[in-house]
Amino acid sequence: MSFPNDFLWGGATSSVQYEGGFDQGGRGLGHMDFIPCLTEEQRKTQPSTFNQSLEAFERIQAHEDEYNLAYRRGTDFYHRYKEDIALFAEMGFKCFRMSISWPRLFPTGEEALPNPEGIRFYHDVFDELHKYGIEPVVTMIHYEIPLHLTLAYNGWESRKTLEAYCRYARVLLDEYQDDVTYWITFNEINMTTHAPFIGGGLFVEKTQKKNAQSCMWQALHHQFVASARTVRYCHETAPQCKIGLMINRQEIYAQTCNPLDELRALKDDQFNFSFLDVAARGAYSNVMLSFVRENDIDVIMEEGDVRDLAAARIDFVAISYYMTWVVSGDEAKQEPLGAFVRTLRNPYLELSEWDWPIDPVGLRITLNRIYDRYGLPIMIVENGFGARDEVVLEDGEKRIHDDYRIDYLRSHIQEVGNAIDDGVEVLGYTPWGCIDLVSASKTEMSKRYGFIYVDADDAGEGTYDRFRKDSFYWYQKVCESNGADLG
Ligand code: BG6
Repeated sequence: MSFPNDFLWGGATSSVQYEGGFDQGGRGLGHMDFIPCLTEEQRKTQPSTFNQSLEAFERIQAHEDEYNLAYRRGTDFYHRYKEDIALFAEMGFKCFRMSISWPRLFPTGEEALPNPEGIRFYHDVFDELHKYGIEPVVTMIHYEIPLHLTLAYNGWESRKTLEAYCRYARVLLDEYQDDVTYWITFNEINMTTHAPFIGGGLFVEKTQKKNAQSCMWQALHHQFVASARTVRYCHETAPQCKIGLMINRQEIYAQTCNPLDELRALKDDQFNFSFLDVAARGAYSNVMLSFVRENDIDVIMEEGDVRDLAAARIDFVAISYYMTWVVSGDEAKQEPLGAFVRTLRNPYLELSEWDWPIDPVGLRITLNRIYDRYGLPIMIVENGFGARDEVVLEDGEKRIHDDYRIDYLRSHIQEVGNAIDDGVEVLGYTPWGCIDLVSASKTEMSKRYGFIYVDADDAGEGTYDRFRKDSFYWYQKVCESNGADLG
């Protein structure tokens, strides 16, 4: 396996799940600051915390103290970034994917100038990373918008949010273009239509549009335009930078070779790709246009939007890859694993405790497919194994023997190497949640991804001290050997 010499080994996080310090340094409130951690009981019945009703939001806002609002704490990067970056450096990271907290820079989203304390904070973080030769990979928005934009304009449903994002993104590029080479305009842009609250800051019940679908697709359209304008601005003002867009990639398998299963797989796969098509090809795909037409979705495009989309092409594709899905052409056979993971059971794959299928070869397949389609370099900015870790005391030291995580990552890295040997251009690999942070689908700490254990539980209790898991030492060897030593 031949990883290129400049391959970016690293790890990934998001400000909303990791940063904390929600009421410090002049940060404003974000819409995710009102999503509560579920109780053990709720977790069994509620598929995810991805959506938040206006009614639930108002209840929480009125009685904040009664709720466990985990995103406000994250796992405290805000106060511990020096310690954490030193640990990343010890592991041999070449890059670190993080996101900027929009409400930290623009507390309401509508200020004319950014919050200087917020600006300083990220300069300090980037300086610290560069001290160790670690390249920041920065997502401009990862499920976090100023709460004010959600309340006043229903988030991305409004062009006001589009304009506010463009101002914010321009500030990021003007301010940090010497510190950051790799930018991602949106985390998983395809989540807005699955998870309208977290992806779009939307209360769909508040929409001015004719139905909830139109609300989500209007928001998505605004995000595409915002991304395209930002890509163009980056190319014009910071040509040394590389800018991409990210989707949650779902490689789709047909359940059998019945042509109807294959057709359904093709359609679902095209649909997943169509989110990238806009940014990589500069226009909506026919698949997306047909979907909008057939589903009575009403999206207003202003003059100039089509031109904006056409005037920008991303430099690289960013993906999260966790699993593959199996589909059937026969609706009657569609019995998905769960309300959240809506794939049929693949008899060849094992599942995680959260019923996420484990499919390393699927990563090689998907990398090949993406590269064939766009011919653009790919950065795998999320992949990883969420699991419950057990801390054991040995010789007075806390240890976490996470062989299951090592196995998962090893098998996936092998397939990244195979894809590179197939001829795919892969820029880097940043496993998700390289340090434990708040998990997104159910807002919990119990589901951990890190190489570094954080002593905090679902209730937010704990010292927040950091401990190296076995996977920490394993990944250190992977980085040191440029992927040659997978243990
Ligand atoms: C990705 C998101 O979809 O999946 C992350 O970009 C998220 O924010 C990750 O944390 C893993 O999901 P979860 O639910 O296990 O935290």
